[in-house]
Amino acid sequence: MSVPQHRSGRDPITSPIPAIPNQGDSAAPAPAPIDESDSAVTQRLSPSNLNGRTAPATEGSLAGTAPIEQLAEPAAHAENHRIAAPEFLRTGISYESVTDAQADEIIGRYPQARSALLPLLHLVQSVEGCVTADGIEFCAGKLELTVAEVEAVATFYTMYKRTPCGQHLVSVCTNALCAALGGDAIYARLSGELGVGHEQTAGEPGTAGSITLETAECLAACDHAPVLTVNYEYYDNQTPSSALQIVTELQAGRAPHPTRGAPLTDFRTTEREIAGVFTDLAEQVKGPTASVETLRGNELAERERQTAPAMPESYQMPPLPEKK
Ligand code: FES
Repeated sequence: MSVPQHRSGRDPITSPIPAIPNQGDSAAPAPAPIDESDSAVTQRLSPSNLNGRTAPATEGSLAGTAPIEQLAEPAAHAENHRIAAPEFLRTGISYESVTDAQADEIIGRYPQARSALLPLLHLVQSVEGCVTADGIEFCAGKLELTVAEVEAVATFYTMYKRTPCGQHLVSVCTNALCAALGGDAIYARLSGELGVGHEQTAGEPGTAGSITLETAECLAACDHAPVLTVNYEYYDNQTPSSALQIVTELQAGRAPHPTRGAPLTDFRTTEREIAGVFTDLAEQVKGPTASVETLRGNELAERERQTAPAMPESYQMPPLPEKK
């Protein structure tokens, strides 16, 4: 399975990359001078508005004096930079009734309960196809974390979705290597045929044949570029036509076998497996794993008699900091 990334919301095919002016770029607009006699400016700069914060030093400025108007107007700054408080759906589902025993089993695998947060979020996601506000609260309660701590993790990783996914999640790698070898064309073809963009779903989420499409930044299979994954299972060496064929089969209710790894299931089942809950583990480890291309480096190292340094016999982990 792979780890897709991309939380920008920018569709790489249709959205131009916003220009970032360099410091000293003569084309970049110069900041307007601050008129200290302007009462509105004075109000913006007042300590109560700044809430005790000072701006960090930037080139050509003193600490506490530079982009102060940005700090004084966080709403406008946030709007300009698409920063918003994370929002999670609230569906009212009781996670205690559907996943409590499994959550306890997962937590029991870790010496510190809080270490189970990542799998627990996947478990939550397996219920409704996304991480909901109710799921966040469930995780926080089980692990004695705050809601803010759980939200911080859920919004950091792109594998945690904030809107319900389709029966299948199709991730197309549009990172440099795959893009150059056809990943952009694959994404454009699928996007056009499905009529959806990044993180959007064709069909009713959760129903048979529904497909959520997303771009991903390196699916860790560059030796098979361009690649896509369905529910994090690999389909190597794709073309726009072969990718469309896969999606057409998914929509028709079939499950084309991935190039490597376990048989394809659906997004929610995969999420349970990532959480560590398997219905048939033996079935999940069937199938080809490492490919010839992936093992080529090993073969070369063996031929050249190269070896990795030995691992230490044991390693003492530093103690965890006190929780405040
Ligand atoms: S660039 Fe696509 S898998 Fe690495």
